[in-house]
Amino acid sequence: MPKQEFPFPMPNGWFCISRSDEIKPGEVKSLKFCDNQVVAFRTESGEATVLDAFCPHLGAHLGEGGCVKGETIECPFHAWRWNKDGTCAEIPYAKNFPPKAKETQIYHYPTKEANGFIWAWHHLLKEEPYFELPMLDGFNGDDDKWGKVYNYEYKINTVLQEIAENDVDQAHFPKVHGSPSLPETEAIVDGIYRKTIAETLMDPNNDSVSEEFKVEDQGMFTTTFTRESWGLGCVGLRMVNLPPSGGEFIMVNASCPVDNKNSILRWSMRVSKDIEDEVGMAIIDGIANGVLDDMPIWDNKSYVANPILCDGDGPINKFRKWVSQFYSEIPDTA
Ligand code: FES
Ligand SMILES: [Fe+2]
Repeated sequence: MPKQEFPFPMPNGWFCISRSDEIKPGEVKSLKFCDNQVVAFRTESGEATVLDAFCPHLGAHLGEGGCVKGETIECPFHAWRWNKDGTCAEIPYAKNFPPKAKETQIYHYPTKEANGFIWAWHHLLKEEPYFELPMLDGFNGDDDKWGKVYNYEYKINTVLQEIAENDVDQAHFPKVHGSPSLPETEAIVDGIYRKTIAETLMDPNNDSVSEEFKVEDQGMFTTTFTRESWGLGCVGLRMVNLPPSGGEFIMVNASCPVDNKNSILRWSMRVSKDIEDEVGMAIIDGIANGVLDDMPIWDNKSYVANPILCDGDGPINKFRKWVSQFYSEIPDTA
């Protein structure tokens, strides 16, 4: 059987293009986002902006040598300036501003900042955003209860759907992650929102936890692990009732489809201060390393459109039905 490449187009939704603190006022980044070349920049007043990368004048890449001037980005080739909405602001040497330049607009991706990240809206048919991003507890300046934030970034050689399917693929946890039991996963779906709740047995001395963070005097414990997804780009995770004193763990998974073979995951994790010293790093480091176990599978797997499933496999078909809403059919232009 030949390898089946993932058959769907780039998904629709809010996706993460950067951490907020990685693009400072006046900074410019060249990125690949949903199979498009884009430029992300932050204006001098602090607004994050994402535009298609190529200058309509003669095609220079605005992210490769372009610079922020006030509220505009200046092209590295002939110094035309472009506004945040992609309209032309200024042509430094033209005596007459050409009418065509007045009508031109570089595609501008709707952009939001939330939970410590910059998000851009992608829709294959360029439709406007039809859902909101959540403001997640513990990641929007509300720090009193929470310990230090730990950030991780992963380049993954597959698409977001395959990565997200992992959450409901309960039978892979013992084999791939060495989990002590099969978690029972329950999925609740409401439009673009999906929530899974898994009663999970955790081991702070699991193989995924680096030696330096193991907690020898803490045995296995059961926790309720909740994952909430807003489309395929934004996931908020929470564990409650953690030892030794009933603390909590929270996490944001901010995902970016790079193209049809590559994705970037950016994670922020923290635990409540009451358990930070005792088990904080055992939990955070164990989760951060756990994804490394999945990578060899993702690097090599084929997409199976009609899998043979059994009763212990978890709600995989329910997940696939939910996720199908994020793909536009490619219009027939023939
Ligand atoms: S290509 Fe951008 S100003 Fe000429
Ligand atoms: Fe996994």
